[in-house]
Amino acid sequence: MRRRKKAQHNKMRYLIAKLNPRSPITEQYRTVRTNLQFSSVDQDLQTMLLTSAGPGEGKSMTSANLAVVYAQQGKKVLLIDADLRKPTIHYTFRLDNLRGLSNALVGNMSLQEIVSPSDVGNLDLISCGPIPPNPSELLGSKRMKELVREAKQAYDIIIFDTPPVLAVTDAQILANLCDGVVLVVRSKKTEFDAADKAIELLQSANAKILGTILNDRDKKEMNYYYYYGRD
Ligand SMILES: Nc1ncnc2c1ncn2[C@@H]1O[C@H](COP(=O)(O)OP(=O)(O)OP(=O)(O)O)[C@@H](O)[C@H]1O
Ligand SMILES: [Mg+2]
Repeated sequence: MRRRKKAQHNKMRYLIAKLNPRSPITEQYRTVRTNLQFSSVDQDLQTMLLTSAGPGEGKSMTSANLAVVYAQQGKKVLLIDADLRKPTIHYTFRLDNLRGLSNALVGNMSLQEIVSPSDVGNLDLISCGPIPPNPSELLGSKRMKELVREAKQAYDIIIFDTPPVLAVTDAQILANLCDGVVLVVRSKKTEFDAADKAIELLQSANAKILGTILNDRDKKEMNYYYYYGRD
């Protein structure tokens, strides 16, 4: 029973871009990567944040897969778990999470001390670290700005995974530090009004919204899209 539960958990965090780079789903992540490059032609897109209106819409899995396809393109990538409330990057990449972002924001740890290498070439990670009691305050701190500035000197692409916009202000706070924001919308789950409200909140925080990613689209529809959307 325990083993079955564990297997289910592993399956839930299946990182397809790493494990199956040739799958049509990974191809879709590459399409997102290309579209993001097009969406920001005038400005260099070095720091981006993924968020969604509500919980469970696929922010973390999309951030992780996107980070992998950027790394596979040869870019030096840093994926940061800035969801200090419900972190998951350490599960996805099997890190112990003994140290992470919160250690650099609360304590004196340097960027180098909190970065972990991943088993994907070119991809480094910062997990959440011990969950702090005051995430919004920490993410809005001067230290956070400093860390982003330092990270920009060492990486080509920095991706932030964040909590849902309608629940807490964390994503809005971080949006201000990023070149662009991507809203993940889950097919048949996200309400139109919720997505609309999320966009409004992000815009009020001066976020540059690059676009939305439709996650978990019906497989049949996806094949259709794949077939017709590729030439
Ligand atoms: N396209 C998909 N197909 C199947 N399962 C998916 C898909 N996208 C996400 N999931 C699953 O849905 C769950 C939620 O995904 P994920 O953790 O990425 O969402 P989230 O938006 O980061 O959630 P939270 O708000 O809790 O941080 C996970 O179990 C994940 O494996
Ligand atoms: Mg998440």
